[in-house]
Amino acid sequence: MGQAPETRIAVYPGSFDPITNGHLDLILRTSRFVDRVIVAILGNETKQPLFSVQERREMLSEVTADYPNVEVDSFDGLLVDYAAGRGATMIVRGIRAISDYENEWQMALMNRRLQPQLETIFMMASEANSFVSSRLVKEVFKLGGSVSGLVPRPVEARLKARLPGVGNK
Ligand code: PNS
Repeated sequence: MGQAPETRIAVYPGSFDPITNGHLDLILRTSRFVDRVIVAILGNETKQPLFSVQERREMLSEVTADYPNVEVDSFDGLLVDYAAGRGATMIVRGIRAISDYENEWQMALMNRRLQPQLETIFMMASEANSFVSSRLVKEVFKLGGSVSGLVPRPVEARLKARLPGVGNK
């Protein structure tokens, strides 16, 4: 008997500048109920990122290396076009506080309008990570605060290398 074909492919899109423990938790939880999770880094970011797409790919690949059904990729253009091209049937997004809801609601409905077959699945961030964001991690680190426990260890090391002299707590 041959192996069952991959059926449930989820795309988890984002900036991941850098990946936090909140993102990682969501990736691992998603990997348990789909056949494949494609973590898709937005390439044509309008915000000025701290890390290049290549650096973000490397960090994501390193911290998900033990999970064979997690793939790291990057994309430009419309998310729904990328997801359809990869054969995905769902987009996964994390929700922390209620303040995330409005933007996510808009994006989900716009994406559904563009590609009705693609379903957006919302995952609740775990309690421990519900206040963690890449933006705050960067801000706290730049101002010399500790981000230990908020990002995976390799990310902490990259932050220290990128911003020497700060965040050495
Ligand atoms: O981590 P972020 O910054 O919250 O992720 C936002 C992201 C990448 C999911 C969103 O900006 C996106 O999908 N961009 C791709 C362009 C696109 O499809 N725009 C229309 C979305 S409604």
